[in-house]
Order: sequence, then C-alpha cells, then structure tokens
Amino acid sequence: MTEISGPMKVPFYDAKPYDRPFFVKHGEGQGIEYLFHEFRLSADTAASAGNCPAVCAFVNDTLDHACLERLAASGVRLVALRCAGFNQVDLKAAAALGIRVVRVPAYSPHAVAEHAVALLLTLNRKIHRAYNRVREHNFSLNGLVGFDLHGRTAGLIGTGKIGKLTAQILKGFGMEVLVSDVYPDESWAIEQGVTYTPIEELLRRSDVVSLHTPLTPETHYLINARTLGMMKENAYLVNTSRGGLIDTGALIEALKQRRLGGVALDVYEVEEGVFFEDLSHDVLQDDDLARLLGFPNVLVTSHQGFLTEEALSEIARVTTENLARLVRGEELLAGTEVTPTN
Ligand code: NAI
Repeated sequence: MTEISGPMKVPFYDAKPYDRPFFVKHGEGQGIEYLFHEFRLSADTAASAGNCPAVCAFVNDTLDHACLERLAASGVRLVALRCAGFNQVDLKAAAALGIRVVRVPAYSPHAVAEHAVALLLTLNRKIHRAYNRVREHNFSLNGLVGFDLHGRTAGLIGTGKIGKLTAQILKGFGMEVLVSDVYPDESWAIEQGVTYTPIEELLRRSDVVSLHTPLTPETHYLINARTLGMMKENAYLVNTSRGGLIDTGALIEALKQRRLGGVALDVYEVEEGVFFEDLSHDVLQDDDLARLLGFPNVLVTSHQGFLTEEALSEIARVTTENLARLVRGEELLAGTEVTPTN
C-alpha cells in the first residue's frame, strides 16, 4: 500500500458511548483520529467519508455495491470492520473496486461464550421474571421452576472458538455435551469429553441447543420448521451467533404450539434500525420481534455478547493497528483481511 503522510482521519460509523473511549485511547499515539458518527454507513451516508482513505464500520452498516462504489469514488481504500462477522459487506464489489476489507476475527470468544451461558441460566431459572417480580414485592415462586443443568444434555452447533469455550463451560456444570461441525476437531473432543454427533441426532437428544456457526448460505435458516420439529419438547434454544440462522416465523409458530421450553436470543434476523438503539419512546414496527418479546419464555438481548471491557479493548487495538499499518504503508495484520473467497 502507498504511504499516507500526517495523522489519518477515519470516519467511524454507528458510534456509541461505550466504544468511543477504547478507540480514542488506541488511536492516540498511532496517528489515527476517529471521526465519530452516530449514523450508520450506507449508500445514503457514504458521502460523509470525504477524502478519507479508510472507514471504520460495524455489524449493522450496509456496505453493499452502491455504498462501496461511493466510498471508492471518494478515495476509500480500506474498510476496517470492528467486528468478526462480515456478511454486511459485498466482498466481490469491494475487491472489484480495489477496497480491502479487514475485520477483528477473534477479540474475546470468552465474552460471547459467557453471554450464551448467562442467557441459558437466566432462561432456565427464570431470573428475568424473578427480577421483575421482587421489585414489585411479589415474592411468589409460582411458575419459576427450572431444572438442574447437571446431568442434562447440551447440543452445540459449531465448534469454533466460541462453541468450544461454551462446551467447556457447560462440561463444568456436569452436562453431557454433544457437538456438530462441518470441520470436527476430534482431538479437542476427546480431550474435553464431548461427542461429535450428526446434527439431527444432536437436535433430538439435547435439552439445550446453542448455535455457534457463522451465517453463510449453508447455515441460513439452519433452525426451521423441520429442525425445530426434531427438537425435544421443552428444550431451550440459545442463539448468540447470527439472527439469520433461525427462521423467525417458524420459531414463533413452535413457541405458540408450546413446542419449546424457551428461547434466548442475542441476535435477530432483522436487527438493523432496532438493535443498539433506544426505541423506548417509539412504536416498534417489527411485529415478529414484538411477538417474540411477548412470550414469557423468550429472552432477548440486543447483540451484547461482545460487550466486555476485554473484547472492546481488543477490537479497538486490532482495528487501530491495521489503520496505523495503512498509514505506515505496511502489510495488514495477518489473518484479518477478508476476500470474496472467505
Ligand atoms: P469460528 O469461525 O471460530 O467458528 C465457527 C465454526 O462454525 C467453525 O468451526 C466452522 O467449521 C463451523 N461451521 C461453519 N459452517 C457450519 C455448518 N454448516 N454446520 C456446522 N458448523 C459449521 O467463529 P467463532 O469466533 O466461534 O464465532 C461464531 C459466531 O459467533 C460468529 O460467526 C458470529 O456470527 C458470532 N458472534 C457473535 C457475537 C455477539 O456479540 N453475539 C460476537 C462475535 C461473534
């Protein structure tokens, strides 16, 4: 890459109060000045990139062909995603326009695995309901019965960084852990005492199913009417990966038919414009999300699995390091670049 002289200004989209301090800290001394924008990046807002050679984007920005074309026209050569997922970027268009794309492949898999388990414990022991009850001085226990995780079976789909850590935590509870992955890691499974199991058998046998695969054409609607029908009655479903892994309509139908014990979601099919926003004074337009929020046995968090100090600091460090390397004309950090072949 050609060298850029002087401090580099980097437009930063969908900025929130909780990520700014980490980026300001890492930007200082690295020659990077972040320009924080609260609005999201899309074709409509791409003109705000001005003459900056790089932009910093997040999960709900829309880097489609039109947006990338406008970024390229204003001189952008690098998109730095401050997240692991990259399904929001048209990678083919980026490559054709000469824009390189980097991400933060792993910041704290512990943060997400721990959140998945926090959701499971909350759902099972009805903490969300108990919390509200006692605040109203209702100390009744009716309807709050959970089950011991010890001795039950968990089925984890995807044994990458987050799935493996989740499996290890659940083993600590004394659960039997079944796992499924297109690329099984047998030596890890033997070491941890977990069992690779065909997905259909995993769904049939598990009391808890937790999703840990990326969103790809193969995993889109992995959980649908057919696969929901295979799950144990009263099983819990936990999704901290991507909303598109679940067919929301089929999920609502299964919940209405009382086919599931409960569902915990940190991600949702249509997060854009809703997740990360304060809509408490607005009217929620998404009827499916409103329906989900109405079930007593559904728990939703707003894509906060990554939200720990350790993860935010690591995201800021890796992103800023890549931008500094662009400034210095050096190679980007190994393993962070995404191309159409990813
Ligand atoms: P990873 O890349 O380490 O692991 C993903 C695993 O899924 C791999 O082992 C892969 O072989 C497997 N896989 C891919 N397609 C599959 C299929 N069709 N069936 C079964 N297994 C399949 O990813 P990592 O770091 O464990 O993250 C998992 C997902 O978590 C990410 O893709 C992302 O969507 C999500 N995530 C969510 C966050 C949150 O804040 N809620 C934060 C970070 C990641």
